[in-house]
Amino acid sequence: MITIPAASVAMPRSNAKHDACQRCGSDHLESSESPARQRPVRASVGDGGRADFTIPLPCRSIAVCPRRARTALESMPHSRRASAIEDLQPVARDLFVSAMSRAANGVNVVCTDGLAGREGVTVSSACSVTAEPPSLLACIHHLSGAATAIEHNGVFCLNVLAVGQQRVSEAFAGRIVALPDRFAVARWRTLATGSPVLEDAVAAFDCRVDHMLTEGTHRIFIARVVAAWEGQGVPLVYSRRSYAGLDLEA
Ligand SMILES: Cc1cc2nc3c(=O)[nH]c(=O)nc-3n(C[C@H](O)[C@H](O)[C@H](O)COP(=O)(O)O)c2cc1C
Repeated sequence: MITIPAASVAMPRSNAKHDACQRCGSDHLESSESPARQRPVRASVGDGGRADFTIPLPCRSIAVCPRRARTALESMPHSRRASAIEDLQPVARDLFVSAMSRAANGVNVVCTDGLAGREGVTVSSACSVTAEPPSLLACIHHLSGAATAIEHNGVFCLNVLAVGQQRVSEAFAGRIVALPDRFAVARWRTLATGSPVLEDAVAAFDCRVDHMLTEGTHRIFIARVVAAWEGQGVPLVYSRRSYAGLDLEA
C-alpha cells in the first residue's frame, strides 16, 4: 500500500494528450503515435480509504519531452547524437502558433506593382538581412496575391507602419469586408521600383528581389534595397493578436 498526496495523483482525464511528464513536469503534448502512458495504482487516501488511480509515466519519446531529450542527448556519445537529433519531431502546430503570438513584431505592408499588377499584404515576418549589401527578407503565404505578383514583378516595397495606421494593416490583411480597393485606405507614392510607398510610414524600403525560397506554405523573398525613406512616427507593434505602440520616450 502506498499513500500518495492528492496533488501528485493524476485522475484519469478525457483528453489524454496533455499529461504532464513525470520527469520534467512540463505539460507538453504526447505525440499522436504514442498515447499517454499511465500506471494504475491502488492507494490510501485522506482518512484511510482506498482508491484506484493512474499515474502518468515519463514521456516515452525523446521527441516529445524537451528536457528529457536534452538529458538524453547530453549523455549520448557524439557519434550517436546526429541521428538522435534527426529523430526530434516538430513541436505541435498549435503550441508553435500560440507561443509565437507572444512575440512582439513590427507591422509592415509589403506592396508591389508591375506587369503582374498592383498588390499589397500585411506582413510581420520581415527583417533586415545584412547591411552589406543592404538587404532584407519578407515571408509571405504562397496563396496571397502579393506573393505571386512579387514573384513576377521582381520588386516590392516594405512599408513600416506607424501607430495610427492600424486600419491600413487591417485592410491589407483582408480584414475589412466590402473594401474593393485596399490601396484606397491611404496615400501612396513611389521611389525607385514603382512599388507603392506609403505616405506617413515610419520607414520604407524599396527592393529588387534577389532570391526566392519556399518553406512550407510561405515564400521567402530575399531582396536588395535600392532606395529607402525615413519617416516620423512611432512603429506599430503586434503581439498576442493585438496592436500596440512603443513608448520611445521612456
Ligand atoms: C499583424 C499581421 C501580420 C501578418 N503577418 C503576415 C506575414 O508575415 N506573412 C503572411 O503571409 N501573412 C501575414 N499576415 C496575414 C496576411 O496579411 C493576410 O492573410 C492577407 O490577407 C493574405 O493576403 P491575401 O489577402 O492577398 O490573400 C499578417 C496579418 C496581420 C494582421
